Amino acid sequence: MDKYIIDGGRRLFGNVKVQSAKNSVLPLFAASVLTDKQVTIRETPAIADVFCMAQILRELGAEVSFRGGDVVIDSSDAHSHIISSVLTKELRSSVFMLGSLLSRFGRAVIAYPGGCDIGLRPIDLHLNALKRLGVKISERDGYIYCECEKPTGAEIVLDFPSVGATENIMLAGVKAEGRTVLQGAAKEPEIVDLQNFLNGMGAKVFGAGTDVIEIEGVSSLGGTIYTPVKDRIEAGTFLIACALCGGEVEIEGVTAENLGMLLHKLRENGCKIHTKNDKIRLSSYGRLKCNRRIETMPFPGFPTDLQAQITALNTVCEGGALIVENLFETRFKYVPELQRMGADIEVRGRNAFVRGVNGLHGATVTAGDLRGGAALVIAALGAEGISEVLDLSHIDRGYSAFEDKLRSLGAEIKRVRI
Ligand code: UD1
Repeated sequence: MDKYIIDGGRRLFGNVKVQSAKNSVLPLFAASVLTDKQVTIRETPAIADVFCMAQILRELGAEVSFRGGDVVIDSSDAHSHIISSVLTKELRSSVFMLGSLLSRFGRAVIAYPGGCDIGLRPIDLHLNALKRLGVKISERDGYIYCECEKPTGAEIVLDFPSVGATENIMLAGVKAEGRTVLQGAAKEPEIVDLQNFLNGMGAKVFGAGTDVIEIEGVSSLGGTIYTPVKDRIEAGTFLIACALCGGEVEIEGVTAENLGMLLHKLRENGCKIHTKNDKIRLSSYGRLKCNRRIETMPFPGFPTDLQAQITALNTVCEGGALIVENLFETRFKYVPELQRMGADIEVRGRNAFVRGVNGLHGATVTAGDLRGGAALVIAALGAEGISEVLDLSHIDRGYSAFEDKLRSLGAEIKRVRI
């Protein structure tokens, strides 16, 4: 199991090229099963979740080959509609496979999904929506069995704009009989990316990025070559790291539009930010001020996937901050680890009260989930002295070449195998 050793207290300077979005690439992999033609996903990040998704497709009988940064998927020989519990437990995103397998085979069997340990993460919205499309669902021994000859278009209203449920409905609806209208859809940039990818295959999906998505079912889909949107969460992680450590970085690949709320909050902290096309430049000098209040919300609100990182930043700012986590009930598990570094945080349910301290000190901490782990790395980079961040398996799920990119900015960080 790998760990990071970080000698903190250095400012960060330089440029970072952002990877393709993990949360876009994973549903695109699932969508590739919708066709028996070849699909190429360009500039795919080398992260554990992508390798796990590739393994899921291979178990179904698809060929997946990594060529440089591109991934070529050929599902022409895919024959299985069953996803084993070993892989679904590792990767919650495998739940999208329900929609694509139903579109392709009219059947899907999948073990209850896993993923980050950040709360209950139910899938009732997914299953209720699939039922609306005519899918019969039963559950036995930890497995979900779905069946229908062919999904049929329907009107669906989501009680909450779930990202995964929206994607699943799109994947189940593209080849359905007739028209599907989804109200209350999630509006994340990754949803827009899925729409563009599907339409590149010949689908008729409209409205992604708004509350209402309309899908006109088509009888077949072809291949496509597609470059996914860049990872706004990776970009945000580097911006927050620079804000906390001080210095000046330019992030390349992400438009300010996709990170609007974060940029607003970083300006509130006192960072200077300039944006142009797909570049964001941030400079941070002197002591920053706490954000008074940050609440995580569906896009375009503050992303829950940056909550841990912005909390880490607030621990060393002047004043106090209230961080409210509205999406996942146990997403403050990294807090005791930050406290080991000297952070003053009190968690009460979904609220974290942060009182800014003058600085953090190095400590040995454990990364228990992906974004919480990134927050610990950021905190360690800004802390005085040596820190060890143990168990990099979660961080490796979502960040490719994380330490290399940080080192190129001047950070002292090395990976050690133990
Ligand atoms: C996706 C992202 C994840 C991000 C999250 C919220 C991927 C691979 N993952 O996860 O990184 O943190 O969006 O932006 O894209 N919910 C239900 N029932 C359901 C589905 C969801 O109650 O059937 C609840 C969840 O428990 C949670 C909230 O809805 O409280 C948000 O979940 P959702 O938007 O579905 O997130 P994911 O798609 O799992």
